[in-house]
Amino acid sequence: MDQGTARLERSDPLVLFDEWLNEAWAREPDANAMSCATVDAQGVPSVRLVLLKGRDARGFVFYTNFESRKGRALGQHPEASLAFHWKTLRRQLRIDGAAETVTDAEADAYFATRPRDSQIAAWASRQSEKMNERFDLERRFTHYSVTFEGKPVPRPPYWSGFRVVPRRIEFWLDRPFRLHERIVFERASDAWTVERLYP
Ligand SMILES: Cc1cc2nc3c(=O)[nH]c(=O)nc-3n(C[C@H](O)[C@H](O)[C@H](O)COP(=O)(O)O)c2cc1C
Repeated sequence: MDQGTARLERSDPLVLFDEWLNEAWAREPDANAMSCATVDAQGVPSVRLVLLKGRDARGFVFYTNFESRKGRALGQHPEASLAFHWKTLRRQLRIDGAAETVTDAEADAYFATRPRDSQIAAWASRQSEKMNERFDLERRFTHYSVTFEGKPVPRPPYWSGFRVVPRRIEFWLDRPFRLHERIVFERASDAWTVERLYP
């Protein structure tokens, strides 16, 4: 499990990310759960968990309701900070970068892979808005179940994905006596620079 630190520094941070995520999947059920921090137009931060649903050369993708608190914040200030904590591996991984929206084609393709009831739930939930009573959500779920009966469920227009385009990726490894390791990759145009930070 332990890796030579020189090898870490020579790695491509995106390849290293995949290695760490794969190792986490072997040990932890929600390995793709990550904290996602945003800041609104007033500079007020907020953080919540989301699931990483894609990673390619461009960045890290999660899906959500664009009218939610996070969706609105990213609309106002398109910067996000992500953090994974893989407890059993004693590792943390942080990603900072600009958030852009995925294409409609990408969002449609992902939406189509979701279970039908989750697709209907995306219509039923007015994410982050006030709800009078739990029954309101159930009534809306029933309403959309009837609306789409016998038909494919289309993706709601307000439901899509954000891609966080990494500018900085930090790998944190636990070491004895709190002499932990922090290896930071930063993107300068197309190349990555690497340095170490005190823990
Ligand atoms: C493990 C976990 C995974 C989650 N994944 C997502 C997700 O991928 N997308 C999403 O919109 N909300 C997800 N949620 C719910 C969010 O944490 C949050 O409650 C919701 O998105 C509303 O956040 P907001 O009001 O800050 O926009 C997840 C929650 C947990 C606990």
